[in-house]
Amino acid sequence: MPEGRLAGAFAPPYSHGGRRNRSMTAEIAPAFPHRHLLGIEGLSRPDIEALLARADDAVALSRQVEKKRNVLRGRTQINLFFEPSTRTQSSFELAGKRLGADVMNMSVASSSVKKGETLIDTAATLNAMRPDIIVVRHHSAGAVHLLARKVDCAVVNAGDGAHEHPTQALLDALTIRRNKGGIEGLTVAICGDVLHSRVARSNILLLNALGARVRVIGPSTLLPTGVARLGVEVFTNMREGLKGCDIVMMLRLQRERMNGSFVPSVKEYFRYYGLDSEKLALAKPDALVMHPGPMNRGVEISSEIADGAQSLIREQVEMGVAVRMAVLEALATHLPNG
Ligand code: NCD
Repeated sequence: MPEGRLAGAFAPPYSHGGRRNRSMTAEIAPAFPHRHLLGIEGLSRPDIEALLARADDAVALSRQVEKKRNVLRGRTQINLFFEPSTRTQSSFELAGKRLGADVMNMSVASSSVKKGETLIDTAATLNAMRPDIIVVRHHSAGAVHLLARKVDCAVVNAGDGAHEHPTQALLDALTIRRNKGGIEGLTVAICGDVLHSRVARSNILLLNALGARVRVIGPSTLLPTGVARLGVEVFTNMREGLKGCDIVMMLRLQRERMNGSFVPSVKEYFRYYGLDSEKLALAKPDALVMHPGPMNRGVEISSEIADGAQSLIREQVEMGVAVRMAVLEALATHLPNG
């Protein structure tokens, strides 16, 4: 984004009908029409593009010395995390604080949480404290949707089981767009443990919505049955799948979600599905590498690639804060007096 556009960027005009000089995408895009962000499913291409345009402005803001805006001043944001998280939770915390919200972090050890009644009880308790936004991560798919029905405030899905992780897909799209100039027509390979990955699911939906060609690559034990129905090309041979790719997105082997043995051994897994320089050489020469983190070096990706010139992994983290600012701000327009 040209730095010149920063003047006044990420300031209240978003919620006042766009008085200022905004990018074309945001000018013509309708206001974000959703009260919650529960998934990429249900978002239209203009919804996604409007969020990405807002996020571009938030990147510029976050690179300034003065990073704070008042968009969420007086609002309370609760980060309710039933699963461990480093980057997602801190990213949402920084995003909320940069917009002026009071942010409270609640981490609930998953072992002490019983499904169903307990989640509803937690929701009712938090709701009574009158938060404006709740950001939720939960180990069960669908838990965030359930919670959204029980509270009066806006709800953001920060990952629900193996279902969706919408802000991760948005930050990945933002990273790709800023490095490749667009997403339409790119070939993106999502590699590894697709079966247990909410990141993969949200990315497949988003990349398809923006016109990318999506491939999934992994051993058949780690690919969901019928994954091709999501509009992807399926490869069990990584070397074949990487040919001609613009973006190689690696996924963590999610051993905490596996019961039983899905791969013979880590060593074997790396040999066939780990990204090293020899396999990456099969993608386009200007291919870029991504990983949502946390990485298991030597399991799905070599250190040489993770830290190499083609890696966007650190940039993804920066984009994460910006995308979360964009989402919080878009949802704030639906809050009372928003
Ligand atoms: C991902 C997640 O939690 O789903 N990580 C993240 O949000 N940074 C991916 C993962 O845990 O492997």
